[in-house]
Amino acid sequence: MGFLVYVCPMVYVGLAAHYDMTPETPLSTPSILTETHGRVGLIRINRPDQLNALNSEVIRGIVEAAEAFDADPEIRCIVLAGDERAFAAGADIRELADATAIQQLTGDRLSLWRRFQAIRIPIIAAVSGWCLGGGNELAMMCDMIIASETARFGQPEVNLGIMPGAGGTQRLARAVGKAVAMEMALNGRFLSAQEALDYHLVNRVVPVEHYLDEAMKLAAQIAARAPLSVRLIKEAINQAFETPLSEGLMDERRMFYLLFSSEDQKEGMAAFLEKRKPRWKGR
Ligand code: COA
Repeated sequence: MGFLVYVCPMVYVGLAAHYDMTPETPLSTPSILTETHGRVGLIRINRPDQLNALNSEVIRGIVEAAEAFDADPEIRCIVLAGDERAFAAGADIRELADATAIQQLTGDRLSLWRRFQAIRIPIIAAVSGWCLGGGNELAMMCDMIIASETARFGQPEVNLGIMPGAGGTQRLARAVGKAVAMEMALNGRFLSAQEALDYHLVNRVVPVEHYLDEAMKLAAQIAARAPLSVRLIKEAINQAFETPLSEGLMDERRMFYLLFSSEDQKEGMAAFLEKRKPRWKGR
């Protein structure tokens, strides 16, 4: 049973649905849809006619929706999805075609991506169909990727006379290694879902009819775990890509100590010893 909030534009409609985000009586066409399922927040990109290309409104909508979920103590994990045909086919080329370097420099896109990266609860990308350019960069900003068998991953910016600008050289190289990243970005090679799995870009590949359920299931499992542990684990693993090992190990150790000041550490260990399920409080 879902509860829908249309984020962009700010239209608010309640609707029972099972990931069917089609509004009963649409007041306008929102480019982002959000829904909560228990402790999981679902964000969907909703520009099917443009293969969910990421224009400014969509990017702002994703970031604001993620921040709203992050600020909600009831929500413990986020799933970000497009539709079966496309997660997102990249930045909106129509919007970029006449852009100038100075507009790019003074625009808010970089700060929006930084805000997305600052989300503290885990984010799972549920990817089906095209996942290209900025779409692939967005998926890689998430913490895990569940892919449908139809997913296709690529950085085809070279075909447009530009290059990746939101992690498509940096995160991609760290994820799939130098050789494959080079071929994808230099020669527009697309990866099939199976290749993306083989190259450690995604967590798993499932039939297209299950990809969203699989992502929601994983999110619900994580959402049921000790919230403070989850938050610090995300922070620590992401730090592994930013700092030297010795520094990362010290910070990990301090976060480990910190959890011993939580009620959940006492509860988790007591529950284990008493052979019962823990009741997490998030404090
Ligand atoms: N920006 C803006 N519009 C886009 C888009 C993008 N990144 N990707 C697709 N679209 C639009 C198309 O213009 C088309 O709109 P139209 O029906 O008004 O002409 C619609 O989405 C469907 O795309 P189409 O190209 O007809 O679908 P396809 O199945 O033949 O091809 C792709 C699919 C993904 C291979 C192709 O759309 C494509 O190459 N897209 C651009 C990918 C890209 O370069 N991304 C990086 C951008 S920096």
